[in-house]
Amino acid sequence: MKGPLLKSALVVIGVIVFLYWVLPLFTAPLPASLIWLYIALTVSSILIFVTMSASSLEAFMGPITRFLTGEGQVGIVRTVRIVFLVLVPFLVGWGTYATLAPSDEPPTENRTIHPAPPGEFVGLSNPLPNTPENITAGQGRYFSLCFPCHGVFDGKGPAAVGFNPPPADFKDSGTIAQLQESFLFWRIKTGGVGLPVEGMPWKSAMPRWEFELSDEEIWKIIMGEYAGSGHKPRTWEEEEEEE
Ligand code: HEC
Repeated sequence: MKGPLLKSALVVIGVIVFLYWVLPLFTAPLPASLIWLYIALTVSSILIFVTMSASSLEAFMGPITRFLTGEGQVGIVRTVRIVFLVLVPFLVGWGTYATLAPSDEPPTENRTIHPAPPGEFVGLSNPLPNTPENITAGQGRYFSLCFPCHGVFDGKGPAAVGFNPPPADFKDSGTIAQLQESFLFWRIKTGGVGLPVEGMPWKSAMPRWEFELSDEEIWKIIMGEYAGSGHKPRTWEEEEEEE
């Protein structure tokens, strides 16, 4: 086994090892498309080289033809050939099936959790003073209306398990802690159905409260939510400072 076929295989393997493992030790890894391009170039150069004369072609193809036709084979080589001939169609069939069969994995979805609110809500600020009375009144409404889903501000109300996406956890730093009061006002007023398409309104169980609650009650609930969760709303000033 020291014919041109073995040498060619070693060259191709050498190129692959060099590009994938050796080169990245010295410089940034190459993009896969470039590696494939180099491998294809190597293979085609080898093919050009071995087809230069009839004898070099025969030296290259001989072992392949003899292996596939089974000419004069005995013992272990015979078995290897049979296993190979059975395995190839099986693997091709399996590969084709694996790529074509529909999968039961849920598609990755890109629901925007905090889409931009409609213009009329941008920049609204809470008109009510932040007094203990207002906070208590807001929390009273909160516990009668919002608790079943949002729980004690932690998103773990008794009904929460039934919903996906789950009810927002107001204690988490990713919800109201990074939002402005105007954003909450919008979300509470118009609920899940008020979300734009990128927020996937059809998935949200958040009710629309504008018919049940007056604006004043909503602002009080917002105060109660912030007080209860231990967060402070973001304000315009803070945002400008950050920029
Ligand atoms: C039927 C269950 C349910 C009830 C009741 C409910 N919510 Fe929600 N709420 C949700 C779900 C589910 C989400 C998350 C999906 C979404 O953003 O629309 C959510 C999201 C929110 C958000 C958005 C948070 C964020 O990070 O964007 C706010 C604010 C909110 N709810 C406030 C309230 C208030 C205030 C009440 C009571 C007046 C209330 N919710 C009652 C289910 C509920």
